[in-house]
Amino acid sequence: DIPKFVKIVEVGPRDGLQNEKNIVPTSVKVELIQRLVSAGLPVVEATSFVSPKWVPQLADAKDVMDAVNTLDGARLPVLTPNLKGFEAAVSAGAKEVAIFASASESFSLSNINCTIEESLLRYRDVATAAKELSIPVRGYVSCVAGCPVEGAVPPSKVAHVVKELYDMGCFEISLGDTIGIGTPVSVLINESGSVVPMLEAVMAAVPAEKLAVHFHDTYGQALANILVSLQMGIKIVDASVAGLGGCPYAKGASGNVATEDVVYMLNGLGVQTNVDLGKLIAAGDFISKHLSRPNGSKASVALNRR
Ligand code: HMG
Ligand code: MG
Repeated sequence: DIPKFVKIVEVGPRDGLQNEKNIVPTSVKVELIQRLVSAGLPVVEATSFVSPKWVPQLADAKDVMDAVNTLDGARLPVLTPNLKGFEAAVSAGAKEVAIFASASESFSLSNINCTIEESLLRYRDVATAAKELSIPVRGYVSCVAGCPVEGAVPPSKVAHVVKELYDMGCFEISLGDTIGIGTPVSVLINESGSVVPMLEAVMAAVPAEKLAVHFHDTYGQALANILVSLQMGIKIVDASVAGLGGCPYAKGASGNVATEDVVYMLNGLGVQTNVDLGKLIAAGDFISKHLSRPNGSKASVALNRR
């Protein structure tokens, strides 16, 4: 049994671009966002209000928001690592934000320079400030199927961090396989690297309808993991146009699952998304051309060849 409608959260302009060495012009980012919105994506994560020393590519967050925050038809959340980022996001017109914690201590330190507990304290401040302004907050948990430094991450640890974000008021929590290492089930390293036991542990703590899955396709496992997640009741899937992306602090985390490939699979399954695959493919070709890179979506390459 799989859901009749899946909400796709497009993360290309943020997760997709944050790791690009060459600075992409603001106008190109803005056109990418416009194209994704007009392709029918209901949520397009636009940028991050993080330290420009840590993520130079997104230093133009304010200018991007100035250009897109009047767009209709989609929600345009932005990442905020602390109150400073939250305040900057709100001043730039953001109407929705996302906070990002980790299930792995080492990854938390390398990504946001603090422990998991310290990050949760910061995020509670952001959640409180957002509540006062009625700004919805999405939560992310990374390394849900393994950590680039620590290796195995127990499902109980993932569930704990998810529950913390849920309890502080996140309306939705996205489960990130940051290094794309998970398989649907795994007999190899008792339960770690396994999506099903991880989801079972998380769903015992937080209702399935509050959860999204965020798979990177580093090992080519993303669609298999998405399908098994849908079968378990997940209805929200993160994806990145043209398979752009990766995390600057997770070696080998190149490539989110391509949105085109997800839409192609869901179309085949008869699951509604409201996304126009043709317009989506054109958006992916647009940004791939600007990055001088082959399109990372297999469905896009195949359909363009016909
Ligand atoms: P820090 O160095 O510990 O921060 O970084 P600090 O509070 O000590 O401040 C240091 C400097 O940064 C100061 O400036 C602050 O003003 C400035 P200075 O005095 O040196 O000139 N600063 C800021 N500037 C702009 N915006 C801000 C901000 N905060 C402080 N919000 C910090 C801590 C969290 C800021 C830093 O580590 C950071 O920005 N990290 C972001 C890393 C990031 O964006 N990673 C990628 C996103 S997560 C991801 O991709 C995973 C996900 O996709 C899910 C998955 O795949 O699993 C979500
Ligand atoms: Mg990611």
